[in-house]
Amino acid sequence: MGGRPELVGLKGEERKSGVREMFDRISGRYDLLNHLLSGGMDVLWRRKAVRLLGVKAGEDYLDLATGTGDYAREILKHGPRQVIALDLAPKMLEILSQKAEGWPQGERVRCLQGDAEQLELPDACVDGVTIGFGIRNFPDKEKALGECARVLKPGGRLVILELAGIPNPLLNRLFGLYFKHVLPRIGALISGDAEAYTYLPHSVEAFPARDTFLGWMRARGFTNARCIDLTLGISSIFVGTRSAASASAPTPD
Ligand SMILES: C[S@@+](CC[C@H](N)C(=O)[O-])C[C@H]1O[C@@H](n2cnc3c(N)ncnc32)[C@H](O)[C@@H]1O
Repeated sequence: MGGRPELVGLKGEERKSGVREMFDRISGRYDLLNHLLSGGMDVLWRRKAVRLLGVKAGEDYLDLATGTGDYAREILKHGPRQVIALDLAPKMLEILSQKAEGWPQGERVRCLQGDAEQLELPDACVDGVTIGFGIRNFPDKEKALGECARVLKPGGRLVILELAGIPNPLLNRLFGLYFKHVLPRIGALISGDAEAYTYLPHSVEAFPARDTFLGWMRARGFTNARCIDLTLGISSIFVGTRSAASASAPTPD
């Protein structure tokens, strides 16, 4: 969770390289700040998301925007055959690789550097896709959802964990004070990056309304698409099932 406010306004490759550089820069302090700034809630949110994913032994999973791999690790605990852990930022993946050496079955995690909007993976190759606090950073979220549908087997599950904005206006204003004034200062102090952690509240503000996002999921071939708010809506989980109707993903473009 971190970055530059003006990044939100950038488009396409320009935004992606800004995001990649930003996460590379803060990679060494990412885990510490994540746990500190969320008061440890990030761990519980990922655990809940993985319960909804319903991991089955022997299945293959893809964790997009995996970062330092905490979501991938949570999936791994349930005995999948493999977790493909994909991220744009090589330094985040380096940290993941070091961490995975100490995890039971860590060899089942396969790190891939890549772009969630253009996956270099075959059609219908995984049983589940996850994205944790990542899709907010993608310039073209709908394209990424299309890629999720393409690589999922029919009946496969998508579970997206995201900071989608707090629905209650009063609570949103109160939380906004922490988000805009306290969090960036702590982030700057600990990450040593003056720009870091000012982008986070801006990227949350720019995230589409829950119904809009669910509409995008449905348009990309996800059935039973729904949103579950956690901790008063500070964090949200979007879940959907890849339609079994056709083997190729529908692309409304
Ligand atoms: C806030 S971190 C989330 C990391 C991890 N999923 C977690 O739960 O803590 C966002 C990650 O998204 C990655 N990212 C941003 N845009 C991406 C893209 N287009 N494709 C793949 N990864 C991307 C960043 O490099 C960063 O590691």
